[in-house]
Amino acid sequence: MVGAKTKVCGLVGNPVAHTMSPAMQNAAFEELGLDFVYVAFRVADVEGAVRGMRALGIRGFGVTVPHKVAVMKYLDEIDPVALKIGAVNTVVNEDGYLKGYNTDWEGLVRALVPHTAIQNQRFVILGAGGGARAVAFAIRQRGGQVTILNRTVEKAQSLAEEVGGTGGPLSQVGSISEADVVINTTSVGMVPHVDQTIVDARHLRDRQVVMDIIYNPLQTRFLREAEERGCVVIPGCEMLVLQGMRQFELWTGVPAPVDLMRAVVEEHLADQNP
Ligand code: ATR
Repeated sequence: MVGAKTKVCGLVGNPVAHTMSPAMQNAAFEELGLDFVYVAFRVADVEGAVRGMRALGIRGFGVTVPHKVAVMKYLDEIDPVALKIGAVNTVVNEDGYLKGYNTDWEGLVRALVPHTAIQNQRFVILGAGGGARAVAFAIRQRGGQVTILNRTVEKAQSLAEEVGGTGGPLSQVGSISEADVVINTTSVGMVPHVDQTIVDARHLRDRQVVMDIIYNPLQTRFLREAEERGCVVIPGCEMLVLQGMRQFELWTGVPAPVDLMRAVVEEHLADQNP
């Protein structure tokens, strides 16, 4: 039960009404009997929120749209990979000293590892937005090769240059059959447009590893068709859950009950789209 010694963590974003993080984190705190609570703060003034964190002794923030970049300048230290990605989604308050992390990239690595090596493997990333940045840096961090294909080719080229990879237009999608792993980071296929897909599945071949970072719906059309082609598919909710697992560990210092967290997220998403 929430009491005088309860440690508070919270999500800072706008909007936050549909986030699954409170359900996922609170279930995990409860499972391990930890005196923590996680709440969602709808925040316009991110500087004020960080000042509030210091003043109130809030233990941790999850940070989401639109504050992942803006929050950085108010922190005392930023993890080197988060700094390269240029976005912070997690803040840990160590007695008033605030350190920022990006757990998205670690969530991606943890989602890939059971299914594929990363070092020296050929990855094609579809899209060049904020999601693609975390994915591209994660793969480079672990020694994978990166090709980025995007509708707006300039964005693909500029991100590729930054991470040390190759950029091209989405029209080169035929080349994905050469890849070991294909990851969709675009918003194509997300609810409510669940009938859309970013690439024609004809370009995929069996035993390729295919991932979508979209988690709503749980299985996008892209993943469904990839599975039908005989690919190994990794749903986007894995990255969501595993980045949340890392956040939990940063705030509490103990291993997260990941199976429970996964079950909470899957149940939540299934309820939203019966
Ligand atoms: P996020 O930060 O979530 O990645 P974003 O920055 O808006 O979101 O990026 C969305 C990505 O989806 C971009 O790569 C975008 O392509 P553009 O850079 O050309 O805009 C891609 N995207 C969105 N709708 C698309 C569509 N209908 N076809 C192809 N790509 C699309």
